[in-house]
Amino acid sequence: MVQKAERVANAQISGRTAGGPAKPAKPGKPVGNVTRGTTNPNRMRRVDRWLTGPQASRLRAAEDPLVIDLGYGATPATAVELFERLRTVRPDVRVCGIEIEPERVRVAKMLERPGLSFQVGGFELPLPGRPVLVRAFNVLRQYEEADVAGIWRLVQGRLAPGGIFIDGTCDEIGRRVTWVSLDAERPLSLSMSVRFGSFDLPSEIAERLPKVLIHRNVPGEPVHRLMQAMDRAWLESAPLASFGNRQRWHAMCKALLDGGWPVQDGPSRWRLGELTVAWDALAPLG
Ligand SMILES: C[S@@+](CC[C@H](N)C(=O)[O-])C[C@H]1O[C@@H](n2cnc3c(N)ncnc32)[C@H](O)[C@@H]1O
Repeated sequence: MVQKAERVANAQISGRTAGGPAKPAKPGKPVGNVTRGTTNPNRMRRVDRWLTGPQASRLRAAEDPLVIDLGYGATPATAVELFERLRTVRPDVRVCGIEIEPERVRVAKMLERPGLSFQVGGFELPLPGRPVLVRAFNVLRQYEEADVAGIWRLVQGRLAPGGIFIDGTCDEIGRRVTWVSLDAERPLSLSMSVRFGSFDLPSEIAERLPKVLIHRNVPGEPVHRLMQAMDRAWLESAPLASFGNRQRWHAMCKALLDGGWPVQDGPSRWRLGELTVAWDALAPLG
């Protein structure tokens, strides 16, 4: 079942209200809309592996190891997993799951423990301190593209120095996963992570692109060029298929890099089915 995307019912983001000119947000009211809470245990393993891998230094260096899982859904399983995984990098990490739907918070609170808490809130992140990491997965996809820039700005404005915001999307069981990472000033990169064997062509991941890009996979847009380049390199690497899809993915990433795409990270990430490209090469036109 697909839920229709919604505008944020808050003038701070959308610059308008349903009944007329924009009014200031009501103090204390979470910014955002309650949406369906679909989630699944372990579906965020691929992004969490990136956060505890190439990005782990951010958490290690943080003055205050505060992390937010924004919009954790009907059950808090993926927030608990985030806490367990980040604890291996930073034992004193504090993960707070924020949900806009109060009943989901009431239920999650039963799982609170030192370092893990839950509270009601929205994109304003209503808690003291500045998080070093905000992970919002399958949340912005439920809003409209026109609201993304405003939501990004609001969350970016809350980050600690050196902090990042992850706006990501995945399929039901986390075999196809993409995310944009942003620091306080700008978007940094798009990452894609796939399970080998779950696709025929790498561009199939386009169905799971974050909201900011999903409607941009059309001729002329940079992300469409990337999808085409990935498919071309994948097909040209077909002779490597007999050595396994890992070798073939590696060859695809190397071909993109050689072809001038600003591929970040390297072979140790490619072998996981991951590819990260600098945002400057992908920013939507207009
Ligand atoms: C599809 S679920 C995703 C759950 C989980 N993050 C995952 O990917 O498995 C989206 C959740 O985000 C919550 N949500 C939507 N907008 C929000 C906002 N502005 N602030 C906090 N939570 C929000 C919804 O209530 C819903 O529970």
